Amino acid sequence: MERIKTGIKGLDEIISGFPQGRTIILTGDAGSGKTIFALQFAKSSCLQNKKTAYITTEEDEGDLLRQTDSFKWDMKHLMDKGTLEFVELAGLRARVTEAEMNIGVEAMKGNFEKLIHDISPDREVVIIDSLGSHTAKLTPYEFRDRFDLLIYELKERNITALIILDSATSQEFNELALFAAYGAIKLMKKENPYTGRRERVMDIIKMRSTRTPIEFITYEIRSDGISLISESEDE
Ligand SMILES: Nc1ncnc2c1ncn2[C@@H]1O[C@H](COP(=O)(O)OP(=O)(O)OP(=O)(O)O)[C@@H](O)[C@H]1O
Ligand SMILES: [Mg+2]
Repeated sequence: MERIKTGIKGLDEIISGFPQGRTIILTGDAGSGKTIFALQFAKSSCLQNKKTAYITTEEDEGDLLRQTDSFKWDMKHLMDKGTLEFVELAGLRARVTEAEMNIGVEAMKGNFEKLIHDISPDREVVIIDSLGSHTAKLTPYEFRDRFDLLIYELKERNITALIILDSATSQEFNELALFAAYGAIKLMKKENPYTGRRERVMDIIKMRSTRTPIEFITYEIRSDGISLISESEDE
């Protein structure tokens, strides 16, 4: 199975990238680095010449570019080449509410696969940051149904996808989403029982067809993005 390097320092050595044409879920605490992880993956996939769409529902393109600028990543160049495309769905929540009043809830709610109709047909990698705002009124059964459809359509189009579930959505629907996805990673802040210090840890919950460690992996957000901390570095 072909893989696309995540671009996260240390992670590619462990899982050798994300399986191409499959969907990976990224969940985690607020401020744990989900967006940074996703931007880092977007940069990496573009550098591997994969046409990439970054669908953003919470922050606008300007916010995201300020974040990547702080790491000195040249996203502008990737955008000018047409390799990277940002799709802003910031107003979606408001639009859905309005549409719900006009045409009824049933027709609109949680039609996830509509999300990817907004992106160019040539995209090979799609990142959704995040899915939360679209799931507000779904029952778990409806969520699973819509989510399966989305994953099915992504796979049909041979798209490699990274979908961020926000914490509220992930608490409510995590289990369901985990079954459907090919892989799942969770980012957390935890207290180290030995040092008493808080640290950032990553749990590779699952990654089909891949050897994965059972232990939490410690990582840091540094001046050039996310890096895993190797055993020898971690005194
Ligand atoms: N240039 C930087 N250097 C080091 N750390 C940074 C830098 N920029 C941001 N951070 C850290 O990363 C955190 C935010 O990461 P990010 O926005 O990816 O989190 P998130 O999981 O997407 O959060 P949310 O749930 O709010 O969307 C900040 O709270 C800050 O601690
Ligand atoms: Mg975020």
